Amino acid sequence: MFGGNKVVGLDVGSYQVKAVELRRAGNKLELVRFGIADVYPNGDRTASGSSDVYHLKVSAIQRAMQQSKITAKHTVSAVSGESIIVRYIQLPQMPEAELKNALRWEAEEYIPFAIDEVNLDSVVLGESNVSGKVDVLLVSARKDLVNDHVQLVRNASLTPVIVDVEGFAFLNCYEANYQPRRDECVCLVHVGAEVTNINVYVGNTSRFSRDIGTAGNAITQAICQKCQVPFVKGEELKRSVGAAAPEDDGEESGGNELISTIRGTVERITGSELGDDSPEATASKAIQNVLMQLISEVRRSIQFFEGQSGGATVQRVIIGGGTAKMKNIAAFLQSQLDVSVEVIDPLRNFTISKDVDARLLEEHREQLGAGIGLALRKVMD
Ligand SMILES: Nc1ncnc2c1ncn2[C@@H]1O[C@H](COP(=O)(O)OP(=O)(O)OP(=O)(O)O)[C@@H](O)[C@H]1O
Ligand SMILES: [Mg+2]
Repeated sequence: MFGGNKVVGLDVGSYQVKAVELRRAGNKLELVRFGIADVYPNGDRTASGSSDVYHLKVSAIQRAMQQSKITAKHTVSAVSGESIIVRYIQLPQMPEAELKNALRWEAEEYIPFAIDEVNLDSVVLGESNVSGKVDVLLVSARKDLVNDHVQLVRNASLTPVIVDVEGFAFLNCYEANYQPRRDECVCLVHVGAEVTNINVYVGNTSRFSRDIGTAGNAITQAICQKCQVPFVKGEELKRSVGAAAPEDDGEESGGNELISTIRGTVERITGSELGDDSPEATASKAIQNVLMQLISEVRRSIQFFEGQSGGATVQRVIIGGGTAKMKNIAAFLQSQLDVSVEVIDPLRNFTISKDVDARLLEEHREQLGAGIGLALRKVMD
């Protein structure tokens, strides 16, 4: 009866568009339908000029919607990228309306763009640990980015009702599925194709948020460059090779450390160090290089957060997005970050409708975090 109010969580990625419909049944959440479509139908992102990308995205939105059989026209979608600025500031306590006003002036200090070129939003997070002040989350997104995005969704014959920020959508999905305690402090790393969203979540809110441009495409491009192969082949190598498995801990050899050390050495010598120039060995190095850049950004983010958190420390890292499907990635990140790393299950707390294609869902599960987080913003009974 209220079908007209239904929304679709529409995650317009640069690699694949995801469309998600959810329902609340009692205190349970259900995945009702979902669809996914390639932006580049033949998988080759170098084949088309950038002017076509817009049309390719419109077409991918339409295909994702058709595949999902979602009939809702109202969308909750998101923007992302390094031009989204999120800041956490402290302001004197004052009525909400005055606060919005004060923020416009304060914002100039924090946003590296002209204030009339950006959309500003803010959320009061609560009392600050500085007395008489409140903590405020300030988000700014360039108007041209948001307007282009809204136009894109409209061109696919849909009606945008909310435009969120991709990293917060992923955070929303984590929260709904894991229901973390107030004292849990987690770093969420959502690695897509062009953008990685990094968030630190503690006290049931985001306390650090940043988007960076090191993600899946950077890995594929590094492989293409080092192996001199076209994009499609680079993607293939990325999937088959994956991240390097951390060195054996000797368990298989009954905990014999000497044997495992020798074996580790032999493996390393027979590998790339002795000039193994197979495409797999070269790709493996390229993957590792880009992952190390990503890890260094995550580490920097954690250090920045911890430096001003008043004692809160990140207890674990949760990864999601398509790149989280990479073989061994969680173990590789964990071995470098020295904190436990886990791949998100974006449907941990959901039932799945029988209309959902189970095979398609298993193939894309890790990629649905942002779409689910978006759909959660306006989920209907
Ligand atoms: N098995 C896999 N191993 C490694 N990488 C994978 C695998 N499957 C998908 N990917 C990568 O995941 C990325 C796509 O993930 P995702 O759908 O989250 O991105 P997107 O939302 O389209 O992009 P963005 O939000 O960055 O614009 C691509 O770079 C793709 O190569
Ligand atoms: Mg994405």
